[in-house]
Amino acid sequence: MTSLTITPWRPLKGALSIPGDKSITHRAIILSALAEGRSTITGYCRGEDCLNTARSFRALGIRIDESPERLDVHGKGLWGLSEPEHPLDCGNSGTGIRLLTGLLAGQDFFTVLTGDESVKRRPMGRVVKPLREMGAVISGRKGGELAPLAVTGRRLSGIAYTSPVSSAQVKSSLLLAGLYAEGLTRITEPWRSRDHTERLFRYFGIPVQEDGQAVVLQGRPAVGWPAKNLLVPGDLSAAAFFMVGACIVPESEVALLGVGVNPTRTGVLEILTEMGADIQVVNEREEAGEPVADLLVRSAPLHGIRIGAERIPRMIDEFPILCVAAAMAEGETVITGAEELRVKESDRIAAMVSELRKMGTRVTETPDGLILQGIGKSGDRLRGASCTSHGDHRVAMALAIAGLTADTPTTIDDTACIETSFPGFYDNLLKLLTT
Ligand code: S3P
Repeated sequence: MTSLTITPWRPLKGALSIPGDKSITHRAIILSALAEGRSTITGYCRGEDCLNTARSFRALGIRIDESPERLDVHGKGLWGLSEPEHPLDCGNSGTGIRLLTGLLAGQDFFTVLTGDESVKRRPMGRVVKPLREMGAVISGRKGGELAPLAVTGRRLSGIAYTSPVSSAQVKSSLLLAGLYAEGLTRITEPWRSRDHTERLFRYFGIPVQEDGQAVVLQGRPAVGWPAKNLLVPGDLSAAAFFMVGACIVPESEVALLGVGVNPTRTGVLEILTEMGADIQVVNEREEAGEPVADLLVRSAPLHGIRIGAERIPRMIDEFPILCVAAAMAEGETVITGAEELRVKESDRIAAMVSELRKMGTRVTETPDGLILQGIGKSGDRLRGASCTSHGDHRVAMALAIAGLTADTPTTIDDTACIETSFPGFYDNLLKLLTT
C-alpha cells in the first residue's frame, strides 16, 4: 500500500501551473466524441477518472489519440456511438458513471456500467429515477440504486425535473439524456451546481437556456455540431490544496497559474478570503467559455467561519481542505447542510473528523457537518500522526497539507487514490517546498 510522509514547517514558495480541470475534462471528452470530426483537448486532467472516461469512449467506438499534452478525439456525431463489447469501467468516478448513464440511456444499444468498490457504494438512484421518468430502461443492484447498472437504450421523452439535491452530476446526466429525448428537458435544483456542462454545450454550439433556477434543453437537434479545439482551465479544486497550504504555513507565497474561476466553483476563494486569507485574483481571461485567472496567495492568520447549506454546492469538493484551514484558524468553525459529503468517494465528514482528531484537533461530528475548534494564535501545532486517506484522493491531499503544520512528521496511508484526480500532486508540493 502506498503512503506519504510529510515533514512539517517549510514554507511554500514559487509558481505552479495547475493541471486541467477534472469536471471539464470529462465533459470535453463526451462532447468531442459526439461532435463531427477531430477535437483537440489540450491541458486535460490526466487523473485516472478522466482516463477511464476516455477508455469508455474508445469502447463505444470513438478513436482517441492520447499524449501527455493533448487528447485528439475523433467524434462521429450525435448518433455515432456503438455498442461496447464489455462492461464500461468508470473506476472511482461518480461523474463518469452518472454522466455516461444519462448519455447511454437514449442510444439504440445495450451497455453495462461499473466502477470500483467506492463507486459501487454510491447512490445511483438520483440519476436512475429521473432517467426512468424519461423512459429509460435501467437496472442495477438494489432496484437500480447501486452499480453495476445495465442500460438498455430506448427512445426518451423530455421531462421537467426538480432534483432534491444540488448536483452537477444529476443535472449533466439528464442534459445528456435530454439531447436524445423528444421535446424539452428542464432541470431545477435547490441551489445552482457547477455549470460546466451548460457552458461546454454552448461552446460547441448546442443551445441550452437558463430560466431562473432551471436549465432547459431542446432534444434531438436537427443538425449536429462541428469539432472544436479547447484548452482545459486548471482545476480550482486541485489548486485549493496549495492555496490552503500557502495560507497556513508562515512565510509562504505562491502563484497558482491558469486556474478556472467559474463562479459556480469559487466558494473556496470566498470562504478563505472571509477567513482572512491573502489571495489576489489576477490576469482574468477566458478559455473555452470558462473564466480563468492566476491566484497569488500569501500566508495570513485565519479565523473560524460559519458555512451553511446554501454555500455547499460551490465548495463541495473543498470540504476536506477547508477543514484543514479551519483547524489552523483562530476560533470556531461550524459547517451545516453538508450531508452530501457523506456520499462522496468516502464519507468525507467522518473521514476528516477522525483524521483531524488524530492530529489533535477538537472537532465534533454532526449529521450534516461539524463543529471544529481551530488552533489560531495559541502557538500550538497540529500533532504529527499516522493517518489514512479512507481511499479518498481529496482526504489524502488535505491531510498532506495538514501535515505541513504538525509538530512532527505525518504519515498518510493508502495514497494511491491521489492518482484518480491529481497524479502530480506530491511532485508539485515538493517543488513549492524547495523553491
Ligand atoms: C462533479 C460534481 C460534484 C463534485 C464532483 C464532480 C461534476 O458532484 O463533487 O467531484 O463533475 O459534475 P455532485 O454532482 O454529486 O455534487
